[in-house]
Order: sequence, then structure tokens, then C-alpha cells
Amino acid sequence: MSDATSINDVISLERVGEIALVRIDNPPVNASAQPVRQGLIDAVTAANADDAVKVIAIYAAGRTFVAGADIREFGKTPLEPSLPDTINTIEASEKPVISAPHGTALGGGLEICMGTHARVGVKGLRVGLPEINLGLLPGAGGTQRGPRLMGMKHTLDMSLGGTMVPGETAAEWGLIDKIEDGEPRDVALKAAQDVLDGTLETRRTSELPVEVDKAALEDARAMVAKKMSNLASAPMVIDAVERSTGDVKEGMKFERECFMDLLKNAPSTRGMIHAFFAERAVSKIPEAKATPREIKKIGVIGGGTMGSGIATSALNAGFEVRLIEVADEALERGTGTITKNLEGAVKRGKSTEAKMKDALDRLSPSTDMDSLSDVDLVIEAVFEDMSVKKDIFTNLDRICKKGAILASNTSYLDIDEIASVTSRREDVIGLHFFSPAHIMKLLEVVVADKTAPEVVATGFNLAKKMKKIAVRAGVCDGFIGNRILAYYGKTAGYLMEDGASPEQIDTALENFGFAMGPFKVGDLAGLDIGWANRKRMNATRPNEERYVRIHDKICEEGWYGRKTGKGFYIYDDEGIRPNPEALEIIDKERAAKGITPRDFTDQEIVDRYMTAMISEAARVVEEGIALRPIDVDAVFLFGYGFPRFRGGPLKYADEVGAKEVVRRIEEYAKDDSYYWKVPDILRRMAGKGETFEDLNKEG
Ligand code: 3HC
Repeated sequence: MSDATSINDVISLERVGEIALVRIDNPPVNASAQPVRQGLIDAVTAANADDAVKVIAIYAAGRTFVAGADIREFGKTPLEPSLPDTINTIEASEKPVISAPHGTALGGGLEICMGTHARVGVKGLRVGLPEINLGLLPGAGGTQRGPRLMGMKHTLDMSLGGTMVPGETAAEWGLIDKIEDGEPRDVALKAAQDVLDGTLETRRTSELPVEVDKAALEDARAMVAKKMSNLASAPMVIDAVERSTGDVKEGMKFERECFMDLLKNAPSTRGMIHAFFAERAVSKIPEAKATPREIKKIGVIGGGTMGSGIATSALNAGFEVRLIEVADEALERGTGTITKNLEGAVKRGKSTEAKMKDALDRLSPSTDMDSLSDVDLVIEAVFEDMSVKKDIFTNLDRICKKGAILASNTSYLDIDEIASVTSRREDVIGLHFFSPAHIMKLLEVVVADKTAPEVVATGFNLAKKMKKIAVRAGVCDGFIGNRILAYYGKTAGYLMEDGASPEQIDTALENFGFAMGPFKVGDLAGLDIGWANRKRMNATRPNEERYVRIHDKICEEGWYGRKTGKGFYIYDDEGIRPNPEALEIIDKERAAKGITPRDFTDQEIVDRYMTAMISEAARVVEEGIALRPIDVDAVFLFGYGFPRFRGGPLKYADEVGAKEVVRRIEEYAKDDSYYWKVPDILRRMAGKGETFEDLNKEG
């Protein structure tokens, strides 16, 4: 006998004999939004009131169990009932309640499971407490029930690491009772029957004892102090877990207060939540509805670091790859780099020998460009020279089959000009990868004047297959990321010439949250790269622009950074330290320009650097090079090591406020009115009290 009733739009209750099946159906990821919470309470209450019901089983429809609290509700007035209250009601149920999670049980979803009296996972289940990735801590009992089920160590690891764990591992830890194969409804039904038969034990998690694990708490504190000092939520996780040995209600109260405090007051939480949405918002493009072209074979022209990285990425995504180089030797070097990249993944445990072999079987190197006649997409990755690129695209136009996509990986050059030499401008696009291309997540998809919508959609589809984050960019020198970098990078030079040392600038920005300061990044990437680019720009650089020659002088010495053992820093067996000869060059340049060096506070360094970044980013939005402010944020988060807890440069701008940014630009402009100009968009925003977030909402 079976009958099903809707409790509300997202929760239904079905009675099968003595079992009440509660189904959650709130696509796409069954987030525990208000109707889910209310529906769960109503369903459990109704099942308790039904004399025929002896056991209650919760499962979910669709691709996953509950993937957590509804992040879209964060920052708004909390809606009753809260998730902790919902879970407490489930736990307090007179009749046993079991859960049968499938797919992913994350955050609040896992906490719902913890509140049920037994948990039987569906094969393939992964569980996690990813709240830390949003700058939060588990806020619905996870820090209190977690230690009772799996001990303090696993709870700390899970809630500070934020990564997912296979259901089988969770079962070994005691978090899940067991894993069963089957459809979620069938697994739920069987588990409930096991409870009836006495073969599956049920108990209230809150009533279980907790063992103090001093070592785990100490280790976690040391790790957080070292690696997570920028996240307000991290120490709270440990404090909350530590309290789990006391009264559960008190522990839950503390956990909840921390959670609400973070949501209300912590900029790092706002930044992390923004970053979560940035990752997803960028796929919302005007071309989203176009049907991507089918891609099986990809041609990569150029076997240097970039081309080899792109080829590696394409092989990892399952494509056939034809690598083109001019001569056998270069081709061998390219294949060697690809092999090394693939081997690296095996060594790091990210791939296997078999997968590597399969990838290499799909690679066909050639020195004959005409062999690109059967590929579906070509990505050109040769050096940055317009005439060379035009030459290649003229040939591609002749060689490639109809409908093949012709892409350039240029970091700066005009895609429209490149496309102009072909008879099929609609097929030409920029696919700007970031080095090392097989590792970095960002892909700028550069849309030229005539690029067809389905070609853009194909670029986004390709990124997805390569597990990258694609951001749509318009054509300009440097597109989104490198254009903004070229602008604010100058600030680092100005600060140095005016009195701050490269080390002070790097340290100030590292303390702000960047993994590496700009001078260390320059040394790592190779100072010769920027040098070549500056030479390219020399002819068109306006006379009024302040030009810092220090980088060039250092390059003239043959010091290109790490690869030559010397740059702004020295790299040798003794480690990294400032290069005294570079400091001499700096002093000489200051003297030559008549600059008396002055002191800078770390705050002024950060303010000037970030203000420059924000002002150029604002112009990029204003000109429509980026679709929305959040696209700029994504570029910096996934391509430039921007600190995630700050959400991106324009999210940071919102924290500072448009008015203050304008005030700073005007102040700095007193000394250099050519470089420091208030973008119109910022002035408008400051006048109206608008934020970049408001612009994101407008789309
Ligand atoms: N709330 C609201 N929306 C969510 C969501 C959530 N918790 N999780 C995912 N979504 C949305 C996404 O924004 C996306 O929307 P869009 O299509 O409009 O862009 C859609 O669901 C699909 O998400 P994905 O594209 O990420 O789908 P995948 O299949 O690639 O991944 C997932 C699924 C692994 C569940 C992934 O979405 C994910 O990791 N979600 C976040 C999980 C999370 O952080 N949960 C903790 C929330 S905080 C919490 O629970 C607090 C509690 O302790 C009180």
C-alpha cells in the first residue's frame, strides 16, 4: 500500500506500509531553502501523528541530496524556521528517522543527516562541510554532532578543509552507518525496513558522548594560524568543535551565534560568498543559448610552454590533439613538455599511468601545417607578433575545413585584425589561456566583432570540458586581465621609485592576501616578458606618461628573475633575499630623476595599488570589455591569484565604497594627473551611492 501527499511544493510524504517516506525535491541541488525546512518539520510532525507509521525515511529527488543551506538567502532577513530548529525537530522525533543521502550531502545537507537517527548513503555519495569555502562555519549543528559521530579530528579536517569525502570513507569514520547500492527511494525504503526488522540501529546523535582530542585541536590551531589567518571563520570552527564536549544546546547556540555574526559582520565571508557566485555567474552570457559546435580534434600551433600546456589540457579533456611546430627539434621539445606535464599529474596522484598513456596515444605531432585540414578547432600559441599571427591565420583560412574554429591564444593583440586576413571572420575567436595552461583555471574567451554566437558558446563548452572557468571578454589591448594588470602594475613601479623597496611592497600586498607580491611574480614569470612588451608599447607611449626605467635597467644586466638566479631578488642555495645590486639601480634611478625617497606605510601601498586596479577595472566594465563587474572579479580570482576572501577587485571596491575610491584618485592625482583619473562610471556611482553589486544585478 502506498499513498503520497504533497506537504508543499518541495516536500512530499508517501506512506509505504509502516514506513513514511519524506522526499525533498527542490532543484537544482535541493538547497535547504525555507519551504524545505518548513516542509521537513511538517512532514515529520505528520508522520509522528500517523499511528500507522513506525519509521520515517528522508531522501531526495534529482541529482543530489541537499547541497547545503540556500546561499541565496544569506544576507537577507532570516526566514523561520531556521535550519538548526528544523534539524532539532527531526532529531527529537519520537519515531525513528533515517536518511538516505545520494550524490552530495554538503553543509546543511550533511547536518540534516547528522540529525537523523541513522544514515545509509547511496553508492557514489560524497559528503562535506564546505561552509569554510564561503567564509562560514557549519551553522546547523555540524560542529556539535560531527564530533559525536566521527570524532573531533575528522570534524576539524572536514570543516577546515572544506573538501568532499567519499561516502565509504565517511562510513569508516562512523559518520555514515553504511553505503548501499540502488535508487535513493529504494535505499531509503530498505533502510527503514531494516530499522523495523531490528538490523539497523538508530540513536540520537546529540545523546552520544564526545572524546576530547587535544592533539587535533592544537594541530588545527597551528594550521589556522599559519595558513588561514585571513578567514574570520577558521578559528571559530575550532572553538565550536572544542565546545562539543559540553552541553549540546550551549554548543549549538555558540555555533549559531558565530555563524550569524560572520554573515552580518565579516568582510571575508562576504568575499568568499561573492567568489562562489562569481565562478557561476560568468557562464551567463548573451550567447548561452547558441548550440556549441562539436569538437573532437584540436590543432595546437606552437610547442612552447603555452602551446604544450594547452595541448596537455586538451588531451586531459579527452580530445585528439595535433601539435604543430616548424621543425622536428621544436616538435620534440613540445612533446617532451607535454609528457612531463602528464607525468607530473601522475606523480601528484591526480592521474594514472594508464590515463597518461591514453592521452599520449591521442597526441599526433607534425611539422606540416596542412595536416590541420581535419581538425575542428585550431588554437594558435606562437609568440606575440602580429605579422606572424596574420601569416598563420592566412594559412589556416586556406587549410582548415569549413566550420572549423580558428582561435588565437594571444594575450594582447587585436583579434579583429587577426580575423581580417581570413574569409571567415565569424569562425575566429580569442582563447586566452593562462600559464601554466594545464593548471590555471581561467580562460578568457575573447569575442571579436564578427565572431558567431555558436563559436563563443563552443569556447565556453571547451572550458567546461577542460574544467576551466571561462570569462567573456571584448577586444582591447590585454583584454580584461592583462589590460588591468598593465595599468596597476605601473603603480608598483611608482611606489618603488618614490621610496618603497620591492620587498616592502611585496610584503604589504602579501599581507593583504596576494600569494605573492608583484616583484616576486615578475621574477617568477621572467622580467624579460614585461620588457619585451614594454618595447612593443614604446612607440605609442604618450610623452606625459611617467615611465619607470628600473625594470629595464635590471633586464639590461641580464637579470630576468628566478631563471637567471637574479632579478629584484637573489635566488640561490641560501634561499630568496633582496638583490642589493637591484637596490643600487633603484637608488641611481631615483637620483637621476631628482626624487627624494619618502616613507610609505603598508596601508598606503595597498591603497594606491588597489585603487589603480579598481579604476582600470571600472573602465573595463564601463567600456563593455567585461560583461559585468563580477566577470572582472572572476578573472582576478582564477587567473591572477587575487585573494578569494576579498571576493575580487570590484567586490573589494564595494567594501571600500565608490566615494572613497574617488576621493583617493583625486588625492593621488595632485601629483600625477595624467595617470590618476576618475573613471566616469565611478564618479556616477559615488554620486548615486551605487555599488558594483548593483550593476551585477542589473546584468
Ligand atoms: N544554495 C543556492 N544555490 C546553490 C547552492 C546552494 N547551496 N549550491 C549550488 N547552487 C546553485 C548554483 O549557484 C547553480 O546555480 P545557477 O545554475 O543559477 O548558476 C546551480 O545551483 C548548480 O550548481 P553548480 O553549477 O555548482 O552544479 P554542480 O553540479 O557543478 O555542483 C554542487 C553541485 C557540488 C552541489 C555545487 O553546487 C556546490 O558545491 N554547492 C555549494 C555547496 C555548499 O557550499 N554548501 C554549503 C552551504 S552553507 C551551509 O550549508 C550552511 C549550513 O551549515 C547552515
